[in-house]
Amino acid sequence: MKLQIPENIREITPYPPGKPIEELEREYGISGSIKLASNENPFGPSPAALQAMRSALENLHRYPDGSCYYLNRAVAKHLGVAPEQLVFGNGSNEIIEFLVKAFVKEEDEVITSHPSFLMYQKFVQVRGGRNHVVELKDMHHDLDAIGALVSPATRLIFIDNPNNPTGTLLPWDRLKSFLVKLPDHLIVVLDEAYIDFVDEDQRYDTLSLIDDQQGRCGVVLLRTFSKAYGLAGLRIGFGVMAEAVADCLHKVRQPFNINLIAQHGALAALGDRDFYQQTMRQTAAGKRYLIETLKQLGCTPFPSQTNFFLIDVHVDATILYEAMLRKGVIIRSMKAYGFESYIRINVGTGEENNRFLAALKEALAECGHG
Ligand SMILES: Cc1ncc(COP(=O)(O)O)c(C=O)c1O
Repeated sequence: MKLQIPENIREITPYPPGKPIEELEREYGISGSIKLASNENPFGPSPAALQAMRSALENLHRYPDGSCYYLNRAVAKHLGVAPEQLVFGNGSNEIIEFLVKAFVKEEDEVITSHPSFLMYQKFVQVRGGRNHVVELKDMHHDLDAIGALVSPATRLIFIDNPNNPTGTLLPWDRLKSFLVKLPDHLIVVLDEAYIDFVDEDQRYDTLSLIDDQQGRCGVVLLRTFSKAYGLAGLRIGFGVMAEAVADCLHKVRQPFNINLIAQHGALAALGDRDFYQQTMRQTAAGKRYLIETLKQLGCTPFPSQTNFFLIDVHVDATILYEAMLRKGVIIRSMKAYGFESYIRINVGTGEENNRFLAALKEALAECGHG
């Protein structure tokens, strides 16, 4: 076989997902480990979603509803938008892919930040587009630097807000003044995967940014059922956008991109407000507890508007990551992102949080902390 691999594909480094627990346990010869590395919801899925999915199994011999009719209506009602403004994806990841497919041609430009969610750049590479990458400034998206890179060839700007991995949220005034200065030929994608976890007093109405007014750039919001709704394994998310943008995304998607089980699971999860509220309360309480205890251990947690946060552990992050793994606690080292002594964890269940703290105390001592 003599493969002719296009240069843009050859250059792609595969996305480094948090390794599955089973694989790490095999590698390290451990068992009963816990994972706080992928910003998942440790409390889910909701019992109502589980029940709906079990019932839906009976109909697996049928193709799913290609329009996601019931889910679409329910989400539209929940958000107060028109059903035509929503596009569902196999995770919000797939909406990123649709946006790039629909709007980026070879040599077109896309602006992203570093560090931020890596998938934006990957889809652009696949398409043969050009990535412009702006370093975060003080852990926030550097909107001035992003604005300065905009050219007639810019098609998309991706901003994860809150940002992954820092957990920072852009101030509302800064975001609005950035958007009004942009030309109207491009689309700004606000990836709101973690929006549900933002503190009440920090919230603002990004839905109001989506409109068809002349002279304004397009805004697309990305939301997901993977985090607050505890359905990461189901793969379902969606985008909220102007109808004209949604029409373009429908042209590039497969007719049945959302499977039957996902449609039923997401619909039931959306309706299970008790589970959702409980997730919010437990996550907030867990975060407060972890932050307080981490400070007592001599670490420096970084404030975050999400269900995860960075911690400066003041030792080499990768050495600490390895030490934690041997104790069966899976976290993320942020060294590859340029944060030498930072790790990232998501809030776990009460038991997981305590297990993490106990392992960290030991691992820090092993790494010569303090
Ligand atoms: C900022 C951000 N956007 C999107 C995603 C992917 O979400 P989904 O599971 O809906 O594809 C993640 C997942 O970690 C993320 O951190």
